Amino acid sequence: MKNVVLIGYMGVGKGSVAREIAKNSSYMAIDTDDIIESLQNKRVKKIFEDEGESYFRKLEKDVANWLEKSVKNTLISTGGGFYKQKNLKEIGIVVLLDSPFDEIIKRIKEHPNAKKKLKKRPLLADLKEAKKLYDERRPEYLKVADIIIDVTNKSAKECSKEILKKVKKHA
Ligand code: S3P
Repeated sequence: MKNVVLIGYMGVGKGSVAREIAKNSSYMAIDTDDIIESLQNKRVKKIFEDEGESYFRKLEKDVANWLEKSVKNTLISTGGGFYKQKNLKEIGIVVLLDSPFDEIIKRIKEHPNAKKKLKKRPLLADLKEAKKLYDERRPEYLKVADIIIDVTNKSAKECSKEILKKVKKHA
């Protein structure tokens, strides 16, 4: 069983889908932001504030190297910028969770924990900038993905079923 790497823009639901897959399959699930927070004993937001974004990107690179060398049979959810890792395809099958920008923002805003979800993501602080980042990234996400899942108006359960089916075919 190859690793499955979930990529996609902030707030698209990578974490919820990863948890759903872990619940309904034999995959163990880990998350790159969680690993970074444990290693640094600090929230991502605080790492951005104290050390800056480039330091965070260096931590992502360290995690990518470790994943490639040491992790097998695992479902890996990632931060929205993790897709830039040079060895991404060596880590596992890359699955993009895709949705239009406005749908992603709507989804975050409708969440019961909306305030917290927005607050913990420094790159969503300015929605104009966030849209620019989305437009820059979307073609790159599409390019690097082995499997693309349109998650618009689908539950995490529906997405997880679709992913498991497509991954099986791809392997
Ligand atoms: C980032 C996304 C965040 C987190 C960091 C940077 C990005 O993760 O890694 O704030 O560059 O898109 P989520 O995609 O889980 O929000």
